[in-house]
Amino acid sequence: MKELSINFLGYNFKNPIVMASGTFGFGREYGEFYELSKLGGICVKGLTAKPRLGNKPPRIAETPMGMLNSVGLQNPGVDAFITDELPFLREHDTVVIANISGNTVEEYVEMTEKLSDAGVDILEINVSCPNVKAGGMAFGTSTEGVTAVTEAVMKKATSPVMVKLSPNVTDIISIAKSAEASGADAISLINTLLGMRIDTTTRKPVLNNIVGGLSGPAVFPVAIRMVWQVATAVKIPVLGMGGIMTGNDAVEMMLAGASLVGVGTACFDDPYAPLRITKEIEEYMERNTINKISDLIGKVNTE
Ligand code: SIN
Repeated sequence: MKELSINFLGYNFKNPIVMASGTFGFGREYGEFYELSKLGGICVKGLTAKPRLGNKPPRIAETPMGMLNSVGLQNPGVDAFITDELPFLREHDTVVIANISGNTVEEYVEMTEKLSDAGVDILEINVSCPNVKAGGMAFGTSTEGVTAVTEAVMKKATSPVMVKLSPNVTDIISIAKSAEASGADAISLINTLLGMRIDTTTRKPVLNNIVGGLSGPAVFPVAIRMVWQVATAVKIPVLGMGGIMTGNDAVEMMLAGASLVGVGTACFDDPYAPLRITKEIEEYMERNTINKISDLIGKVNTE
């Protein structure tokens, strides 16, 4: 038997696969395909202090090897999540991560208090949503913004806190270090890369929001590079994501320094992707006589 479990922030993830925020809803739809307890963890759709309808359509566009989204944080709000969705997630033996976005530091703090009190396992602080005007990426593109949100959240959080970083920055290392210095327990990256498409017939942007976040295999090498840069620069653990489609991609992400691996866009193509990827990781371990998956973390040989 291969040991696939990972201890991350004191939680036992039965395998390193975590469903990335915004690609798995609150798990109900995918739960019709398979038992959610098979997953290492689930990070829920980004929550905000009040319910949001999101941006006007069209808000999804296909691209070669990926997709653009400008959903704009459509969600029922943190209170409805706690009453209507969290009890369902709690029926399954998997780690529950709540992703939160605020327009202001105060909103991040308010949600942190509510979700900590509700007993969510881990909080993912989204300072990287590219599709909303206030908050979101506005905080995540400067060390000052990341510090302000992280420090405020850390004062109130009783659940461990992971800060989700944007790749749309010039210096990911200083941003990651500012999250660590502000007390973050872990870092997750990458959120989507800002992109745009134009309809050549109408000459209009394909997305109503004009720009949107690029995800999928097109972003994978960028994600590997940034995860490697961050994991070698900070001491806190890293959850790596961005374009993972196969078990080999997941192994690559762990070699780059990720302790856990987020799977997102792959699910739109194949709802069973997390189970297939887990099986492919096991097969890789079998072929390479690796007994413990944790032995792969950060083991890229750059000499
Ligand atoms: C969205 O809802 O617009 C995507 C969320 C994100 O990228 O953080």
